[in-house]
Amino acid sequence: KEWSRTERYRKIEDVFIEEYEALLHSVEKARWRQKFHVQPVSGLLNDPNGLVQKGDTYHIFFQWFPLGAVHGLKYWYHASSKDLIEFKYEGAANIPDTTWESHGAYSGSALLHEEDIQIFYTGNHRSEDWNRTPYQIRGVFNEETGVVEEKEPVIEGPHPGYTEHYRDPKVWRHEDTFYMIVGAQTTGGRGCVVLYHSKDLKEWRFHAEVKTGLADFGYMWECPDMFNLNGYDVLLFSPQGIANDTGYLNVYQSGCIVGQFDYETAVMDHDAFHLMDYGYDFYAPQTFENSSGERILIGWMGLPETGYPSDEDGWAHCLTIPRKLSIENGRLFQEPIPQLMKYRKAHDSRYKGSKIVDLPETYDLEVNVRTMDDFTLCLLDSGDEYFEITYSSSRSEIQIRRHFNHEVECRYPEYRKAALEEPVHHLRAIVDVSSIELFINHGKYVFTSRMFSEASTHDISAHNISLDDLNIYELEVE
Ligand code: FRU
Repeated sequence: KEWSRTERYRKIEDVFIEEYEALLHSVEKARWRQKFHVQPVSGLLNDPNGLVQKGDTYHIFFQWFPLGAVHGLKYWYHASSKDLIEFKYEGAANIPDTTWESHGAYSGSALLHEEDIQIFYTGNHRSEDWNRTPYQIRGVFNEETGVVEEKEPVIEGPHPGYTEHYRDPKVWRHEDTFYMIVGAQTTGGRGCVVLYHSKDLKEWRFHAEVKTGLADFGYMWECPDMFNLNGYDVLLFSPQGIANDTGYLNVYQSGCIVGQFDYETAVMDHDAFHLMDYGYDFYAPQTFENSSGERILIGWMGLPETGYPSDEDGWAHCLTIPRKLSIENGRLFQEPIPQLMKYRKAHDSRYKGSKIVDLPETYDLEVNVRTMDDFTLCLLDSGDEYFEITYSSSRSEIQIRRHFNHEVECRYPEYRKAALEEPVHHLRAIVDVSSIELFINHGKYVFTSRMFSEASTHDISAHNISLDDLNIYELEVE
């Protein structure tokens, strides 16, 4: 079905309750619904927004179009959690109800300040002739009412020299100043991020464009994030428009540079750009620091402009499992947050011939890889469908490939790959009903992918890996 502009910008408040309930009901019964990943109750989920912990409660939000699996009028949906594994679905929390956000409450971040959850995000305004003005809006999340209130634009339109593509503010505090970075595009069509500063979170001054060594790196940088971890500064962003012949195989990328950031000059001195994730479905991640000082990342397990098999059932996408970040020798590592271990349940593997059979729907698989040779591991193997992971020692490369009858629209080649700096010694896969998150060498390389399998039972087969080296735990959430 093609969605008209009117249908995409219809407000959920204007829809008859019966109509919406019918959608909710059909999504609830739909195939491929995840068991422990955050997913929309209806419609489309995209970027994680406003990640924050207050007291013993985590609040996460995400971009949400309630009425179908398309990008339309965006709300922020709210989910809360005590451990970032089990979530309570709270409902729409940032309602695009001001003129500044007439065409969507776009992405942004949260900051805990004097007991308030301050929210910063982009109001996507369009005029009648469809001209866009982005507003960076500040609001406060009211935990009682569950919605963002006291909205006010703090930055109106782009700074001179930049286009309407000016969005996704991330705010943090450094020493006694607040900083905000915004994803931007110069009038010359170059992607970048710009930096603002403030003393009181209300009045913001343009500081500078962040100067990196990536002078010509796509036409727009979305969802920037900056943080300090283990003595390094990290700039994380999602660039659009990098040529895919350079090994960037998804429609848009998401990666980071690690180094030192000079707040005075706004110069980021850094190493090579590395992808955050090498899988088929990953974009627009955001990080935050929890009250124990851990840096946690959540990504959108999906991509813009890409059709998914679940679309026809009225829902699309989910968030990744939260990952704990660390840096070793200047390289970023991502591992599933340790709380996930608590949901592991012993599982006795059953073998049949050269396969492990009858796996649970959701599991956590860990493998200590003993070989230096090529190996292959096939998950969700039902004979004609399977998810293939291959290591080539001569090319020092991991490749994944989906073989499923229901396909995600996949541009470019049919595989995803990463060149490795060392052989694979450890592999962990977190499997939910329709996703696999693969962590190689304790999260130095991550591959996140959706998969839409037809089979109700599936096995694991391996080549050059002994099945006895596979430790499988069922994951039981709720
Ligand atoms: C990234 C993005 C953001 C924007 C939001 C709109 O996926 O395009 O730049 O704020 O999604 O939903």
